[in-house]
Amino acid sequence: MIASMRSALAGLFLAGVLALLAGAASAESIRYDTSSRAFELKAGSVSYVFGVNERGELQALHWGGRLSDRDALPPANVGRDRSSFEPTTNLVMQEYPGWGAAFYGEPALKVTFPDGNRDLVLRYVSHTIDGQQLRVQLKDISREVHVELRYEIDPASGILGRSARIQNRTRTALNVEHAAAAAWSLPAAEDYRLYSLSGRWAGEWQLDEAKLTPRATVLESRRGMTGHQNNPWFALARDASTEESGPVWFGALAWSGSYRITVEQDALARVRVTGGYNPFDFSYRLQPGGALETPVFYAGYTEGGLGEASRLLHRFQVDRILPRVANSPSGPRLRPVLYNSWEATQFDVNEPGQSRLAEMAAKIGVERFVMDDGWFGARNSDQAGLGDWTVNPKKFPNGLRPLIDKVKSQGMDFGLWVEPEMVNPDSDLYRRHPQWVLNFPGRPRTEARNQLVLNLARTDVRDYIFNVLDRLLTENDIAFLKWDANRNFSEPGWSGQRVEEQQKIYVAYVENFYWILRRLRESHPQVEIESCSGGGGRVDLGVLQFTDQVWPSDNTDPFDRLSIQDGFSHAYAPAVMMAWVTDSPNWLNQRSTSLEYRFLSSMQGSLGIGANLTHWKEEDFEVAGRLIREYKNIRQTVQRGKLYRLISPRQGSPHSATQSVAQDGHQAVLFAFLHSGTRGSPHPRIQLRGLDPEARYRTRIVAGKVQQGTPEEASGAYWMSRGIDPDMKGDFQATSIVFDRIEAAH
Ligand code: GLA
Repeated sequence: MIASMRSALAGLFLAGVLALLAGAASAESIRYDTSSRAFELKAGSVSYVFGVNERGELQALHWGGRLSDRDALPPANVGRDRSSFEPTTNLVMQEYPGWGAAFYGEPALKVTFPDGNRDLVLRYVSHTIDGQQLRVQLKDISREVHVELRYEIDPASGILGRSARIQNRTRTALNVEHAAAAAWSLPAAEDYRLYSLSGRWAGEWQLDEAKLTPRATVLESRRGMTGHQNNPWFALARDASTEESGPVWFGALAWSGSYRITVEQDALARVRVTGGYNPFDFSYRLQPGGALETPVFYAGYTEGGLGEASRLLHRFQVDRILPRVANSPSGPRLRPVLYNSWEATQFDVNEPGQSRLAEMAAKIGVERFVMDDGWFGARNSDQAGLGDWTVNPKKFPNGLRPLIDKVKSQGMDFGLWVEPEMVNPDSDLYRRHPQWVLNFPGRPRTEARNQLVLNLARTDVRDYIFNVLDRLLTENDIAFLKWDANRNFSEPGWSGQRVEEQQKIYVAYVENFYWILRRLRESHPQVEIESCSGGGGRVDLGVLQFTDQVWPSDNTDPFDRLSIQDGFSHAYAPAVMMAWVTDSPNWLNQRSTSLEYRFLSSMQGSLGIGANLTHWKEEDFEVAGRLIREYKNIRQTVQRGKLYRLISPRQGSPHSATQSVAQDGHQAVLFAFLHSGTRGSPHPRIQLRGLDPEARYRTRIVAGKVQQGTPEEASGAYWMSRGIDPDMKGDFQATSIVFDRIEAAH
């Protein structure tokens, strides 16, 4: 106890020194109040408080606005049973409830002991504070099951990261049936709205909004991978909260496998969000001395509405999650403008065809040329070749080198598509190692897109994949990999593994996936990676620790993309959101749109081109060249700036608009879109946000028109209070305006 107090004091001191060094206006710290036995983690505008109650349980006490240092922390208190149906063991909002005693909610941890006991009651043992990190040790009341809860708070955003390490110090193996990273408790209220992101292939990132009622809502994947269906992100707002004001609690789980986030409201209107491994078909055998470390569940709070919640998440991802590359230690690199061959050539890739596309891409200012599927093995369609990562000699008789040289001679770097976890049964790899795929021996193996999933949980498969990719990157001058995964688990058997260990597959697979990514990055520090899974099927804060960007959707219709991007931006930064300009009519919806419209839709994220350039006319190259030049002027603002969703494209809105403001305030960029004009209605006036009211800004119209009489130059106050009127008529119209600050405030 004394030792932990001493380290608590040391931690406080260190936090104070760090805050002073950083010149932080709002000091961040972790404090432990010995009299009330309560902890406070404080940063940004957030305080997070929990304490030890008289039973020794860790009890949530406050998660919301910042408390004053002069106040004593609220003490934990078991309280009284409300009735025989509502005992205090169920009423106390525990930080990490074990399933045991009389507890009826979603547990954070549930275990089965070999003697049949399934009761687990966790109590506080000790804690340590080290800078921004707090660790709290819990232990079962009688058995040697120890849990270390880890808390870390980000000084800039106040976003907390929580995880748990579960240790079996008994003398026998036990089964973990249910393991969450964290349980988050919110203040009791009856007017919560839950926001979540759901979808399907080619229709990801739809923002759902539902009133919370006394029941449990489950956001989950049972697919072994993150999935298109739900994303491991949530936001909870109050009825009065809006896009730009009011309290919002939000969070995202850093895990790329099966997960479950349960949002519960009880009859007393208390709300808890519990998230971690999906307990469905899950059983993790912990040998004596063994430990299971959960993923991290990040969560934050703001009083600035959903808009500020996403801006905090964006900044946090850029500052704390995304990988650093070798020549950019200070932060992730801005995304280069890339070209991708998929929609243009599909599997029909070869040296002359790709070289021609590369020349044309270079002409319009593309910086990275990516060859997609079809370059390897017998891969002429999705029926064969997956797993055989050797260059197809008919398509590339001299290997990849001539194409890469060509791409580099045009001033671009080279990227390549891979799908390492998968195999077509019609492949040399499968013929050599049929036992490497997920399956239950003697049972059918369900194919999807004619492919099976390699069991990455196996170390031989993991090592094989790493070696194949390592060789590919060593032998070729490759700057970028698009890592795809075009199906999810089925029949998730792990042949060769002891039966009682087989359900570890959901953890071991993902850990080995991360292991490969981590080692590839260590061995090839210049290489960047994109996470793709048939579009946005594997986007989460877990994979984003190892990948620089993601492919949000195979749906490249620029109109659908507006709502896809709107949803995406609630959880993830525009910097990682790849958006290609493709052909019109679009392959999915057969919708025709102008090249300008397609560009402006894509310029809201990280710009790419995926059109068949051999079909372009001279004027298309001119438009594209001009807009790519414009994009390079604004990409710092779009990719790193503060995003304001001014008009949402959701719920059939004919209009939509976003605005990005550079972190240093020197520039703002507005994008506005009209779906279909009706009855000659004028476009609603757009009032900008986040400008300096005293500074002056000069406008530059990138595309579209504004109403006559709009000044070219005015104060931030003018643009924010009076606003600007885009002049759009017709269908699928787009306008973009840059506001450059020409004079700072006095
Ligand atoms: C997936 C990806 C596409 C493309 C194809 C190639 O569908 O999402 O972008 O790479 O695979 O087969």
